[in-house]
Amino acid sequence: MNRQVVLAKRPVGMVTESCFETTETSVPQLGDGEALLEVRYLGIDPTIRGWLDERGNYMAGVAIGEAVRSNGVGVVVETYNPDEYPLGRAFMHLTGWQQYCVVQSNPFPPITMVPEGVDLLDVLGVLGHVGITAYVGVLEVARPQPNETFCVSAAASSVGSIAGQIAKMQGATVIGIAGSPEKCAWVIDDLGFDACIDYKREDVAARLKELAPKGVDVFFDNVGGELLDAVLRRLALRARVVLCGDISTYNLDGPAPALHNIRYLMGKRARMEGFNTLDHWDHYGAAAEQLAEWHAAGRLKHRVHELDGIDRAPEALVRLFSGEHLGKLVVRL
Ligand SMILES: NC(=O)c1ccc[n+]([C@@H]2O[C@H](COP(=O)([O-])OP(=O)(O)OC[C@H]3O[C@@H](n4cnc5c(N)ncnc54)[C@H](OP(=O)(O)O)[C@@H]3O)[C@@H](O)[C@H]2O)c1
Repeated sequence: MNRQVVLAKRPVGMVTESCFETTETSVPQLGDGEALLEVRYLGIDPTIRGWLDERGNYMAGVAIGEAVRSNGVGVVVETYNPDEYPLGRAFMHLTGWQQYCVVQSNPFPPITMVPEGVDLLDVLGVLGHVGITAYVGVLEVARPQPNETFCVSAAASSVGSIAGQIAKMQGATVIGIAGSPEKCAWVIDDLGFDACIDYKREDVAARLKELAPKGVDVFFDNVGGELLDAVLRRLALRARVVLCGDISTYNLDGPAPALHNIRYLMGKRARMEGFNTLDHWDHYGAAAEQLAEWHAAGRLKHRVHELDGIDRAPEALVRLFSGEHLGKLVVRL
């Protein structure tokens, strides 16, 4: 049987575990050119929340009763396409919250074969979409220069923690913003950030004034809303604000809070730019290679927070928004 976690009802406001239910269905039969993946790990990403709404986000919303769309890693256990999907090889794909997933030839987003010898957990985090998002956002959009001040929100998140480390390698002074003393200590002590502001316990604007008296040159924002507004007030001349995500708004039913400080972009001749990693698909190979090299050399660290069993996928998604995890949230099947 194929155990799945499906969307039972659409969340209103904050997503809760009651929005999902577990069902069992037959393992799908394969057609020509197809292969069957046995899913080993699910990556729990913030973007899943957008797919639970009817309108979706950059991809359509998941239908009621459908397995929740999600990134995952699986191993080929049956194949009618051995050239593309050899038996026993692992692939990263939008597997969904289910034990088995059928893959066809040339799907979009493209499926990625996991190189031999690579830990399956790493491809959901530092060596996969998450690491590549940080890579593209920092090196192709933000472009921090030596001695610039680089500030990153959700600093202990998968993307944020890698973005800060890459900015540090460029010679920037890196200030994180995160939601607990433990997370702040991790990014400073283990990842080498210069400072970290606990936004739940400290006044972000006041602390930024102390830590970056000349202002923030690059703000890599994963949070949006009030936190983004607070940092806009602290920009340096010719600053760059890179919009990677606005997780603080993903569970809002109404409009996101207004940005009162947007006018500082003019005064500071600053620029604000969003990006979506999917637009950089052609750079994935080169980015993944560089990330793997840094990772193997111990220059890029990451953590994984693992929950056991597909039934815990809803709990994992809820934790992502409460911040009750340290490292990339994954569910082991
Ligand atoms: N542009 C792209 O192509 C792209 C691709 C992938 C991801 N992203 C974005 O990158 C960001 C980070 O993703 P990720 O996978 O690295 O996340 P993650 O590892 O799952 O971590 C998410 C963290 O966000 C923080 N957070 C949650 N709700 C918050 C709120 N209301 N206010 C402030 N902080 C909140 C929590 O940390 P605290 O405990 O510190 O609050 C939480 O641990 C997200 O915004 C995501 O949408 C963008």
